[in-house]
Amino acid sequence: MKFGDTLKGKEAEGKEKHVPAIEVGKGKGEAGADMVHVVVGKEVPHPNTTEHHISWVELYGVKKDGQVIDLGCSAFAPSYTNPNVRFQVPVEQFQAFCALAYCNIHGLWEDCIEV
Ligand SMILES: [Fe+2]
Repeated sequence: MKFGDTLKGKEAEGKEKHVPAIEVGKGKGEAGADMVHVVVGKEVPHPNTTEHHISWVELYGVKKDGQVIDLGCSAFAPSYTNPNVRFQVPVEQFQAFCALAYCNIHGLWEDCIEV
């Protein structure tokens, strides 16, 4: 088994939504900074209880030369904070963004977008 085999994507979605949605907001941050928005459960909220919640979301960027950069990770307090986070990123340096989201019951979920 490879670590990548543990990652699930849109094809594995059931009624509960886990795939992190990634949106780029060029110039949408403070002082015109570029932002990358990552949210789990954008259309169908994921449960957010102590028993069942999204623990963290991590964003990676793939630079134009192929180098992968870990851009940041955000951890959430179940029942208090929702998996909805914005990262300030110089978008023009990247060709793609990928995100991971971890559900304490349903495991690791991924998605990538090209920019
Ligand atoms: Fe879940």
